[in-house]
Amino acid sequence: MIGVGIGEHFIASDVFALLPVTQRFIILQEGDFAEISKDQIKIFNKDLKPVERPIITSSLSAEVADKSGYRHYMLKEIFTQPRAVADTLEGCLSEGHIVEQSFGMVAGEIFDKTRAVQIVACGTSYHAGLIAGYWLESIAGIPCRVEVASEFRYRKTARQTDTLFVAISQSGETADTLAALGLAKSLNYVGTLGICNVPESTLTREAELVFLTHAGPEIGVASTKAFTTQLTALLLLVTLLSRRTNPNPSTEQKIVGLLESLPGRINLVLELNRQLEQIAQSFAGKHHALYLGRGTMLPVAMEGALKLKEISYIHAEAYPAGELKHGPLALVDDDMPVIAIAPNNQLLEKLKSNLQEVRARNGELYVFADAEVAMESSEGIHVIPLVPVDDTIAPIIYTIPLQLFAYHVAVTKGADVDQPRNLAKSVTVE
Ligand code: G6P
Repeated sequence: MIGVGIGEHFIASDVFALLPVTQRFIILQEGDFAEISKDQIKIFNKDLKPVERPIITSSLSAEVADKSGYRHYMLKEIFTQPRAVADTLEGCLSEGHIVEQSFGMVAGEIFDKTRAVQIVACGTSYHAGLIAGYWLESIAGIPCRVEVASEFRYRKTARQTDTLFVAISQSGETADTLAALGLAKSLNYVGTLGICNVPESTLTREAELVFLTHAGPEIGVASTKAFTTQLTALLLLVTLLSRRTNPNPSTEQKIVGLLESLPGRINLVLELNRQLEQIAQSFAGKHHALYLGRGTMLPVAMEGALKLKEISYIHAEAYPAGELKHGPLALVDDDMPVIAIAPNNQLLEKLKSNLQEVRARNGELYVFADAEVAMESSEGIHVIPLVPVDDTIAPIIYTIPLQLFAYHVAVTKGADVDQPRNLAKSVTVE
């Protein structure tokens, strides 16, 4: 997009990059070319014909894009999550119910027809999609497929009838996600929904239904508050769909209560910051890490591993804990720490036995565990206790300490947390 200034004009891939210098923008359309100078903006369409595009004024301001006293944008963004989630829920809940129109005026009509869901996204947004896949099947009983956009767009897909296509993107400008959406529009999906954090983005213009997360500008390249607000939005979506398939008012009331409790619960987890800083310092010398989770905690583990590799440059991989014996166990020794996510659910005992396998091979353990599961720190085992939480929202809560952990490891290593090498915030090309 073009940022319109006074005696100066700018080009960037999204609004947030330009907020410190202007609030006025021109959004280029697919195929447009622009030539800018200090005093002039000339725009041509794909046929090289001069065209006029409107100037829009963004409601976002530069103050939302400063560090507010935090050392890095990423830390500020982690700590802003209670507010970001509350802002995302604002206007979406009413007397124990979810307001369907939060997804668009025709949302009800499309949701009534939806029998399956296809989700596409990239990076962190893809991990949010994976968690939504578990929720859709377990809460709404609706089959769901989740795929990275760069794969989806280049393969011949088959779909069940009446499938809703959902594209998740913080920026709304990711080339692969937009191309996947373009493809979906030419196929017979029952509707397209974009979940996005940037109101003026291409995704919000192209998708039929739109849900805006109100996380505010995310500047750190490693996504944090966009992820937790995407999950908030996706849980709203799942609950709305479950209204049709599992019409039990108490399910919706329970989920609404859990959503309303999120800001307070996230605040409690943020209190672990100091403890995580200390643990991270002892970890910063490592070169590899294996993250383990089961169920919804698998995508949470994948997201934790992604955060660590993006900003600290430590090689990290996530595995379903049950797959440990099918390969990764061969890597475990005193140089391969294992980070496990251990909420108090029916898979806990199985996870504990996986962890014993790791200890038996001298693997150091970092366990993010429910405070009630009676796991204690000892030689080679660092336990980070978390306040007990309902399974449904556990993915949101367990993500927070993993973000803080990766952040402190990166800071200890002296890495450029907000702008990691080789990475960009919006990937607008393939
Ligand atoms: C880049 C960013 C990631 C982000 C991904 C998808 O790789 O560095 O943080 O998750 O793009 O971006 P999107 O804006 O589509 O969510």
